[in-house]
Amino acid sequence: MPPTTAGATLAPKSPPRSIRELPGPTRLPLVGNLLQIKPGAFHQVAEAWADRYGDLFRLYLGPKPMLAISNPEIAGALMRDRPERFGRGVKIERAASEMGIEGLFSANGDAWRRQRPMVMAALDPSHIREYFPGLVEVTRRLERRWRECARTHAVIDVQSDLMRYTVDVTAGLAFTLESDGDVIQSHLDEIFPMLNRRLFAPFPYWRYFKLPIDRRLDHHLSEVHKAVDQFIAAARARIEADPSLRERPRNLIEAMIVARDTGGSGLEDKDVAGNVLTMLLAGEDTTANTLAWMFTLLFKEPGACARLAAEAALLAPSGVPDTQEQAGAAVFAEACANEAMRIKPVAPFLFLEARHDTVVENVRIPQGGLIMLLLRRGANDSRYFAEPERFDATRWLGEERSAAPLASPKRVSMPFGAGPRLCPGRYLALLEIKMVTAMLFRNFEIEELYSEAGKSVPERLSFTMEPVGLRMRLKERTAA
Ligand code: HEM
Repeated sequence: MPPTTAGATLAPKSPPRSIRELPGPTRLPLVGNLLQIKPGAFHQVAEAWADRYGDLFRLYLGPKPMLAISNPEIAGALMRDRPERFGRGVKIERAASEMGIEGLFSANGDAWRRQRPMVMAALDPSHIREYFPGLVEVTRRLERRWRECARTHAVIDVQSDLMRYTVDVTAGLAFTLESDGDVIQSHLDEIFPMLNRRLFAPFPYWRYFKLPIDRRLDHHLSEVHKAVDQFIAAARARIEADPSLRERPRNLIEAMIVARDTGGSGLEDKDVAGNVLTMLLAGEDTTANTLAWMFTLLFKEPGACARLAAEAALLAPSGVPDTQEQAGAAVFAEACANEAMRIKPVAPFLFLEARHDTVVENVRIPQGGLIMLLLRRGANDSRYFAEPERFDATRWLGEERSAAPLASPKRVSMPFGAGPRLCPGRYLALLEIKMVTAMLFRNFEIEELYSEAGKSVPERLSFTMEPVGLRMRLKERTAA
């Protein structure tokens, strides 16, 4: 069947319907479909409903119906229609604001418009270049750790090591030159799981009474905000003492202060602080779990592993890529990352919230109505990718493709979102992925990779979609 287009086969012909009129799973009064959703498996349940009810269906996460969309062309078109028509949603905005983490990810409307250029500037490849030696150092630290594990034949907790790596990278990017990066990290380890807990809480009890964990959270938040404020003050003092830093800021905080000070930015120091925390949050689980899924898929692909080893031998002769150019040239590693994100995207769905009454594919959406975009469903649909269940990195290599594409791969697989809110960290994320992949395949062979939770590696949705209990044993590579 040829792919449907948002404006063709599904185009409005009759008067708009209400969401209630769409097909969808049977629900109970008040709780709707909530009891059918197993903890950690919301994405899988929703994808099974998409298989059953098609491109558009309705579900209830409470008394109000929500539109779910699995067609990637419609999803892409709606994502591009931001920030005017759709926003991120008030629930996440409020949860983040209550914790003082008001940053780009949770912002809507004008606040989002003001912050976006500042965050884009901070994550620009030229700023990341200033930090590249730090990235090499953090990657070497992981290499040393894994070499020790290979020598002692120790089992590696993959996610835990990768999470430490991604946090060290973003924290290094933000706090190098400031003091106490490690101290702030210990607070963040307590804060981020709480944000997740609150987002998925059925009732915002903490607005009425506080449990001991909420009081602990308040303590960690107050410490972290104090530290970030001091970092900002120190960075500002350095910039005032040496105005040339405005041309070449040396870390993420300096880069954001320069953008904030640009005439007409409309930003304040609290926006800088909110976005430092947002980037630490947005860059940790996403990149670590993408790498973990990529290793899981590659373990069953000896041909791809051999090609990665050959690429790494060229680009990482010293054990890790030493320059940004070497890492950038790891095109096969990037293709493997794209293919891993197609099959195992860490954000398998996204929510949009209508900013005013609107009509989508002839369905009326009231102001504040939620739309769930099932992003993975389309990227694994045989209408768009031949043999979608097969790991085939050549899909992303232009002329080398083993089969002509049925649709533009990048328009269908959207692991970083799409449109004006496309992930601003994707360059950094891909750079980290290429550094770790080159380091792994240059120095080691994956001897064993398994989940402590079962035969295949189960998926669990927490802040992102993660592999459960992933463990690995490495062997040092002998051939040069
Ligand atoms: C493989 C790793 C990553 C994946 C898969 C990923 C995925 C995403 C997705 C799906 C979105 C929502 C996009 C949309 O609404 O259209 C997003 C937004 C965002 N990401 Fe990433 N991300 C990754 C790494 C990072 C990193 C390393 C950073 C920064 C250090 C980052 C910072 C952000 C921010 C600030 C936003 C909000 C953008 C906005 O709303 O305008 N991400 N990311």
